[in-house]
Amino acid sequence: MSTDTVTRPVGRYAYDEVDRTFVSQRVAQFREQVGRRVAGDLTEDEFKPLRLMNGLYLQLHAYMLRVAVPYGMMGSDQMRELAHIARTYDRDYGHFTTRQNIQFNWIRLEDTPDILERLAGVNMHAIQTSGNCIRNVTCDEFAGAAADELLDPRIHAEILRQWSTLHPEFSFLPRKFKIAISGSPHDRVAARFHDIGLVAHPGPDGRPVFDVFVGGGLGRTPIIGVKLRDNLPEEDLLAYLEAVVRVYNAYGRRDNMYKARIKILVQALGVEQFREKVDAEFAQMNRADYRLEPAIVEGIRARFGIPDLDAPADAAQKLEADRKADARFDRWVRTNTHTHRHEGFISAVVSIKPDGGIPGDVTADQMDLIADLADAFSFGEIRVTHMQNVVLGHVRKDRLRDLWLRLDGAGLGTPNIGLVGDIIACPGLDYCALANARSIPIAQKLSARFANPELQENIGNLRINISGCINACGHHHAGHIGILGVDKRGEEFFQLTLGGSAENDVAIGQIIGPALPEDETVDAIARLIDTYLVLRHEGEAFIETYRRLGAASFKDAVYAPA
Ligand code: HEM
Ligand code: SF4
Repeated sequence: MSTDTVTRPVGRYAYDEVDRTFVSQRVAQFREQVGRRVAGDLTEDEFKPLRLMNGLYLQLHAYMLRVAVPYGMMGSDQMRELAHIARTYDRDYGHFTTRQNIQFNWIRLEDTPDILERLAGVNMHAIQTSGNCIRNVTCDEFAGAAADELLDPRIHAEILRQWSTLHPEFSFLPRKFKIAISGSPHDRVAARFHDIGLVAHPGPDGRPVFDVFVGGGLGRTPIIGVKLRDNLPEEDLLAYLEAVVRVYNAYGRRDNMYKARIKILVQALGVEQFREKVDAEFAQMNRADYRLEPAIVEGIRARFGIPDLDAPADAAQKLEADRKADARFDRWVRTNTHTHRHEGFISAVVSIKPDGGIPGDVTADQMDLIADLADAFSFGEIRVTHMQNVVLGHVRKDRLRDLWLRLDGAGLGTPNIGLVGDIIACPGLDYCALANARSIPIAQKLSARFANPELQENIGNLRINISGCINACGHHHAGHIGILGVDKRGEEFFQLTLGGSAENDVAIGQIIGPALPEDETVDAIARLIDTYLVLRHEGEAFIETYRRLGAASFKDAVYAPA
């Protein structure tokens, strides 16, 4: 790390000259590779590993570029650049994913070097967004803001980013590797559905310690991660993770890509034996080389901009008065905000799930607006959530209504966070070369059907997740209601699972019966929800009613003749 004069962006790590040079060099290298591919000097087979190292996929209709948003944090300058890219090189929109990245769906190969160069200009890139390496580390969308947070996980997420970026040993792992980190007792990162999930909290002496979960994942074999280690001291974080990934690298299967994830290894060995191997590796490593001394951590922390949280003494009172005066605003505050650690501030969630819209899709104009609003209301800082929404982390309570008015006026004020309309959906057959079925239209029909905000609030917390195939990019196993697209003799069918969760009450949803034809799926889910409304006890959320009664009570509703 150099000692250049640092302009510290709020909520993000300030790149130094080394970071900038590295990203620019990578762009120049890729420009040359694309040139050779366009000229026909490289075949697609030869080019594929090169493009995947730069986040470029080939999808059904076009190239898709996945851009990393490290631990979901970005600035208004970066969002404006994404808007520019969407407008200039794509069809005027981008798509936020469940791993806090953004994808552009209609990219021309020839344009990718220019796009990457523009991204580099705002310290962004597409490195490690694909391939069998350690992917973008994800983190709590309310990090550094949430009242319930024990420890700000972004500092360690950044340390992990630096450790994992181009790690020479871990560029060709048996399969991709995903790490998530949370610093709150409420899991908002799906820690137990990751290859490594870290839950940070202060140890007995106040220094950070980490609970380490390993071997979780979705995909065709959904598995809940198991606890590998309690209270790992901060100074050993890198050494221990290095040991875990080394064991995976050495013993993970390379003969069968469907059995190559670390979850399969942990299952095959059993957690005890896996732990023994990790401990043996850890014991023989030169741990001094990896030790995270407090000074190193503080050096990283010092490159993060800190918002100046200064609010008038009556900010909270003003918000209460605004809520009383406007029922629509009051509803949005109930559904779309999160408690901030500072009593004069609040975190606002911008729903990227308009009624009948495509989950996670944002237009270039909306991106520009979000950037403007971030500047005006939240220190220029923007967060992308693993639910495909956007958060403005630090909004003064007395200014929240002004923010809402601007959002609402632009169609970004949908009050549905955590409700029926807040659906996760993967790109499915509209874009994806691996898909069996179209996830997006099901999401659109469902959210249009339940558009009434009163009905949504009455139904309460409900997570509907949709994947277009067994790869589970839409987290269907982790949905309270999961929907999986399957192909039956060339027709699109959808299989329902119930009871999944990616939060503290983590669970894998269970299949309730045969898959339904596309045109019956939305009606069947509506009947399922009606059944819940009849069966629920007062104050009971869908998942609680389901757990109390089991699948049988819901099966009849789903399979009732239409
Ligand atoms: C359109 C291009 C995409 C392709 C070709 C693709 C491919 C895949 C494949 C093959 C898997 C299974 C990996 C395994 O089990 O080892 C997977 C998992 C996953 N993908 Fe995608 N995906 C795409 C888009 C997305 C999008 C848009 C999202 C977010 C909305 C996403 C998020 C995930 C997640 C969360 C998982 C499962 C978690 C896990 O790795 O266990 N993917 N993807
Ligand atoms: S779940 Fe299947 S259809 Fe959906 S994006 Fe992933 S690979 Fe494609």
